[in-house]
Amino acid sequence: METIIQAHERKIEICYSPALFPVYYSNKNCVVVVIDVFRATSAICTALQHGVKRIIPVASVDEAREYKAQGYIVAAERHGEIVEGFDMGNSPFSYMNPALKGKEVVLTTTNGTKAIERAKAADKVIIGSFLNLKAVCNYLEKQNKHVILLCAGWRDRYNMEDSLFAGAVVNQLKQNPIYTGIADSSLAADHLYQIAKGDLNGFLANSSHRKRLARLNLEKDIEYCLQENTMDLVPIFKGNALSVSK
Ligand code: MLT
Repeated sequence: METIIQAHERKIEICYSPALFPVYYSNKNCVVVVIDVFRATSAICTALQHGVKRIIPVASVDEAREYKAQGYIVAAERHGEIVEGFDMGNSPFSYMNPALKGKEVVLTTTNGTKAIERAKAADKVIIGSFLNLKAVCNYLEKQNKHVILLCAGWRDRYNMEDSLFAGAVVNQLKQNPIYTGIADSSLAADHLYQIAKGDLNGFLANSSHRKRLARLNLEKDIEYCLQENTMDLVPIFKGNALSVSK
């Protein structure tokens, strides 16, 4: 039976690494927002916005290969690059392809799909990126649940871009008096976002994955992923896939 949360009890916590998720996930009555700004969760939002029907996230390249052998369209990224032998990688622009409309796409990425794998234990798992920031906040406010913002980070380590997005969510939700349990992890990210929000790209200039993507000539992807509120959708995990709720 679902526990009824009193309005004054709603908490917002940020888990800065998938490795720490078991520490944060002690209460079943929560929504987990998986965040991988560069670029998995931005790519997932883009794919669903452009008509992809479902994204099936898988944690390993081996699982992705099994799907490929069964004839699925499969995207695989490791360290920012397309894995050899796969149809596509993790650039949001590749999901704008009209040929993908109405199709299912299997996706594995270095950190993002691993974070989704960890989060699966929760009642509700959704996908957040700057592109759908407001839609995510609106969705969370309508749920009678605590919020865990799960940053995919980089190989279980902290990263700045996911923390900034988590801070942006806290910055909006804290306006709503329902959220009184704002943990220190959330306060810290909110401060960071407030410092950075005027120039997210500049603020991230020395951050590791931004530099990695720049080395791979993916500046266009970086700029794209840092746009706020370009789409009004929330990818939700159900069964084995992510889709947009109707
Ligand atoms: C990841 O899952 O780590 C990524 O989204 C990396 C990338 O494609 O930039």
